[in-house]
Amino acid sequence: MFDPFSIAELLKRHGQEHLLAGVASLDDATRSTFLRRVAEIDWEEMTHHAEPPPLGEVGASRVVTMDERARRRAALVAAGEAAYRAGAVAVLMVAGGQGTRLGSSAPKGCFQVAPHSGKSIYQLQAEKVLSLSRRIGRPVAFLVMTSPMTDEETREFFQAHGYFGLAVDQVRFFSQGTVPSLDQQGRALLSAPGKLLENPDGHGGCFTALVKSGNLARLAKDGVKHLVYIQVDNLLAPVDDAELVGLATAEKTDVITKVLEKANPDEKVGHLVNVGGRDRIVEYTEVTPEQARSRNAAGELIYRWGSPAMHCWSIDFLAYLDTKGYKIPLHRSGKPLKALVEGALTEVKGWKSERFIFDLLPEATVSIGIAIDRDAEFAPVKNATATNGKANVDSPATAVALAHAQYVAWLAAAGVKLSLPTNARIEISPLYAATREQFLAKWDKRVTELSGDYYLEG
Ligand code: UD1
Repeated sequence: MFDPFSIAELLKRHGQEHLLAGVASLDDATRSTFLRRVAEIDWEEMTHHAEPPPLGEVGASRVVTMDERARRRAALVAAGEAAYRAGAVAVLMVAGGQGTRLGSSAPKGCFQVAPHSGKSIYQLQAEKVLSLSRRIGRPVAFLVMTSPMTDEETREFFQAHGYFGLAVDQVRFFSQGTVPSLDQQGRALLSAPGKLLENPDGHGGCFTALVKSGNLARLAKDGVKHLVYIQVDNLLAPVDDAELVGLATAEKTDVITKVLEKANPDEKVGHLVNVGGRDRIVEYTEVTPEQARSRNAAGELIYRWGSPAMHCWSIDFLAYLDTKGYKIPLHRSGKPLKALVEGALTEVKGWKSERFIFDLLPEATVSIGIAIDRDAEFAPVKNATATNGKANVDSPATAVALAHAQYVAWLAAAGVKLSLPTNARIEISPLYAATREQFLAKWDKRVTELSGDYYLEG
């Protein structure tokens, strides 16, 4: 039980005593829910914020380049394949973001993106897990992190669509937490009388939520060793990646981060760097344009390796951090917020705080980057397609175009002659083939030429 006097004391200590104004006029149930929530928040951590490292201390992380991958491919694939077949791999997809940039209040995953089938992002991601499970002949656990803002709709969506063919028990939803949004003076805001204005605590919330929901313990108990981590908003993020898992096995990594050469110095991605012997990711928001363009003595960009936010986490490492009581710090970013001001919902400038999963990197003893082929693995959906029909950067239209380009490359590699108008779109279901190798192994030469739209279902 909480004690109202100690709450008043607690709030005073953290400059949040304004929250108690008006509490007396709330009904009993609202008041008690409000005070319970206020009492459980770690107000102390809200005042500490992760800072980017000084540029002079930023060095290069160890990255397994495309050349090194090619040399080691056979051994890595064999090791990864063995891990998949032994049931040592699970997939985690973070889907707790609110998709505000996409201009929709629905979870991003519900967005129908596929050009011919009309499949949603959730369906495309789930079908990759299904395709992998079928291939290896065992159900791969698919963990889906939602937030209080996306949880109900996400669960209903999966249920309404029969879990996209996955077994019900294979899909494990768990919700991340929330943290208070603050005004510019660092004071917590209300969204309604007796209700704090809160935002999802960032994808880093998945660390605590994995533990709290019992999912981490269950994975460990089931003998899962590696967690392949993807973001819902990357249409091409692979989950069947024997080279990645093989590298984790071969080098006993705590974490592997996929990296790509940035398209330009200002590309909006996090950067894998090494600071004082420890890997870490520095966000694009934490780097000035001058820093983003700085080069080292060898002429390479200091912030060279972009992170498309795909990792392979060791379950043992996550369990170790939990035993240690590790808590991921908060980063804050200025945002327009809708808060209760003098009785009316008003737009105010303030701060949202979030945890980033990649802040676990500096805790890792063995952290490696692995270079990837951008065209094959990265098609982010962040922004709405512009209303003038043009493709906004990182929009559904650009992501579909990237996926199309990949399927064109697969078909061309299989000897199909393609003469396509620019607006033609190829779609290949993950249930037909989820990787280039699978496609080439399966392709039955059902067409030899293509001159327009084409859809290949499983
Ligand atoms: C993110 C990464 C960036 C990376 C880029 C690649 C961060 C801070 N930055 O940028 O390093 O290069 O993706 O596309 O993540 N999410 C949650 N819960 C939350 C917030 C987000 O699950 O509370 C999920 C979203 O659903 C989404 C993903 O995390 O799948 C990324 O979130 P977003 O805020 O879009 O990150 P970006 O700024 O695009």
